[in-house]
Amino acid sequence: MKDRGVLARYRHLLDLPSHTTTVSLQEGSTPLIPMQRLAAELGGGFELFVKFEGMNPTGSFKDRGMTAAISEAAGRGAKAVICASTGNTAASAAAYAARAGLRAIVIIPEGKVAAGKLAGAVAYGAQVVQIQGSFDDALNLVVAISQQHPIALVNSLNPYRLEGQKTAAFEICEDLGSAPDWLCLPVGNAGNITSYWMGFRQFHQMQNSGLPRILGVQAAGSAPLVLGHPVEHPETAATAIRIGRPARGEQALQAAEESNGRIMAVSDDEILAMQRRLAASGIWVEPASAAGLAGLAHELQAGRLDLKGQRVVAVCTGHGMKDPDIIAQSMPAPRRLPACLADLEAFIVEANQ
Ligand code: F0G
Repeated sequence: MKDRGVLARYRHLLDLPSHTTTVSLQEGSTPLIPMQRLAAELGGGFELFVKFEGMNPTGSFKDRGMTAAISEAAGRGAKAVICASTGNTAASAAAYAARAGLRAIVIIPEGKVAAGKLAGAVAYGAQVVQIQGSFDDALNLVVAISQQHPIALVNSLNPYRLEGQKTAAFEICEDLGSAPDWLCLPVGNAGNITSYWMGFRQFHQMQNSGLPRILGVQAAGSAPLVLGHPVEHPETAATAIRIGRPARGEQALQAAEESNGRIMAVSDDEILAMQRRLAASGIWVEPASAAGLAGLAHELQAGRLDLKGQRVVAVCTGHGMKDPDIIAQSMPAPRRLPACLADLEAFIVEANQ
């Protein structure tokens, strides 16, 4: 039990103040799953792994950074935390605040947050406010509140979020024995890509583990880093990354450039198709989480990536159970039958043809 949780495993490698008092749900240590069949379908000749961050306690990668941010806030005596969120940060902040006995206030864009995320935030006891605006509006509001009130901001503008988050890069290097050649991942507010790049660089300095090239992927309707300007009304079915002004956009661009990688955009159709392909390999992720791999597939198809003999890690950031509605919208509904053996047999035979 001793080494469970991001701070238990890696606190000595994280830049956290001494007052930090561990608040953990034993997050991290997520699976790195080999994907031979999908790699072969994408052209073959390379090794592919999914880092399944949906296996964290609240179902998304946010728990790594949240354990650090809440541990720091609790350790200095904060009584309340606040965040803006497209959903996953809200659920994670709510859970860790509950664990620490702190008040959590979460601000989400009205009508655009997946059911499993909102339910989580409510279940963990957060005070949830839906604003009539976007994630970007919500983030501006919570920054202002945290500057005027003794309420700790736990968005990834909080540097301790990045400290905790970078442990995912450490785990990948440890599991593979070195850094992969490529890391692909979705990009929204851009904290995650920034953290991975920090983590890989730190591990490389310590262990000479090498550095990956980073492929950051946005949804085409919410792609400010690809377009080179903010998007006023971002849209995408991948609601987690429906963000028009990424707070850490500059750092994301820098990570892509320094790593000799890039940031690109894919359509919602490509994202949802990759969500189905992953599920066909037994890994159900929420739409945003499929964006990284959708980007990889897009580049391979276009002949812009040569992965021969290389190792690729795709970060799948959130569990499919977060967003059940998208499945109802994009997949056929279950067949309804009377409770009758003959009907069931007929259906099974027919469905096999
Ligand atoms: N994938 C998922 C499932 C997310 O929830 C997010 C961000 C991202 C990818 C993008 O990560 O913002 O660090 O670039 N979700 C935030 C939230 C915005 O409020 O839950 P990022």
